Amino acid sequence: MAEDVDSQVVNPWEVTAKDGGKIDYDKLIEKFGCQRLSDDIVQRVERLTGRPAHVFLRRGVFFAHRDFNEILDLYERGEKFYLYTGRGPSSEALHLGHLVPFMFTKYLQDAFKVPLVIQLTDDEKCMWKNLANAKDIIACGFDITRTFIFSDFNYLPMGNFHAYFLLAENCVIAFYENMVKVANCVTFNKVVGIFGFTPEDHIGKISFPPVQAVPSFPSSFPHIFSNKNIKVNNNLRCLIPCAIDQDPYFRMTRDVAPRIGYQKPSLIESSFFPALQGENGKMSASDPNSAIYVTDSLKDIKNKVNRYAFSGGQDSIENHRKFVTSVFLDDDPELEHIKEEYGSGRMLTGQVKARLIEVLSELVERHRKARALVTDELDEYESVNL
Ligand code: TRP
Repeated sequence: MAEDVDSQVVNPWEVTAKDGGKIDYDKLIEKFGCQRLSDDIVQRVERLTGRPAHVFLRRGVFFAHRDFNEILDLYERGEKFYLYTGRGPSSEALHLGHLVPFMFTKYLQDAFKVPLVIQLTDDEKCMWKNLANAKDIIACGFDITRTFIFSDFNYLPMGNFHAYFLLAENCVIAFYENMVKVANCVTFNKVVGIFGFTPEDHIGKISFPPVQAVPSFPSSFPHIFSNKNIKVNNNLRCLIPCAIDQDPYFRMTRDVAPRIGYQKPSLIESSFFPALQGENGKMSASDPNSAIYVTDSLKDIKNKVNRYAFSGGQDSIENHRKFVTSVFLDDDPELEHIKEEYGSGRMLTGQVKARLIEVLSELVERHRKARALVTDELDEYESVNL
């Protein structure tokens, strides 16, 4: 990948802060051209949905957006939209950072009562991994009657025969047709500008962006968004909750959409979940000590928080603890209380860590229980009619 001139690099494959420091999110917003998610919008979401905003919204984990207000406008007029998110495989187990978009997506689905498509960008060899990941995703509790989960290799025309016959023929073709429409609008120069591809990158990388782009268009899913008599409404809008490193895909998608007669997808974007060692960088699936995994035992969690969390300068210790505690501790008054007590020295580091261990263990335990209830049969999620 090409070196970024400002030395802060954020793209779907790499997240590196300047000089090992913190990611400058304001700069990112400016560079990408998205908008900051204001308190006004959070309050509007609460008004429209009649429920408190998700803790990730209240505490700014989801901090940026593109045209989210337009989605709220149409919802207010009583119109529908749909959600799209996804996941690529990186390791056997997911860590809590991976779950953030899915936990948030579940909240959005519940609050707005809308359909959801989840794309698993797996390759064939990763079938097992894929299933493991899909189970973790399903364990987040999506509404089974409104959710379609698909892996590219099952859904795309190059996929296996079984899937081809299972799905109506026109579905696979519609998805592929949209990929070709997108690909026809994007020059090599354009993807170099957006993703930083170099001449040495293989063409698989260069040709992948349309695959991630087209679930943003309802006509890619005729079996969901149409029935015998009614054609897909191309004006049905799409909202994509994702981490901000996925923004390049959707900047490209939004650029192309009007040229092929489609609506631009809207986005609601999160910051990166910081690694346990400190604030710079995100939880990484390749460094097991940098993250809490959904498969971690209580002992693992204790160990990681006590031994690895918050090592570093005093400043980053403080900030990191604040971040993790404040993201997963839903109870506003309790968090306020901890802040006060800790700030005045009445509460010690060990006590905050103990509370953090409790909160994380509860979350992982809840996830483990939900996951155990997911059967190997994923068909239910694959054949829904929304
Ligand atoms: N590229 C994403 C990843 O590597 C997977 C993905 C596909 C995705 N479609 C998406 C993520 C839509 C967010 C929204 O994890």
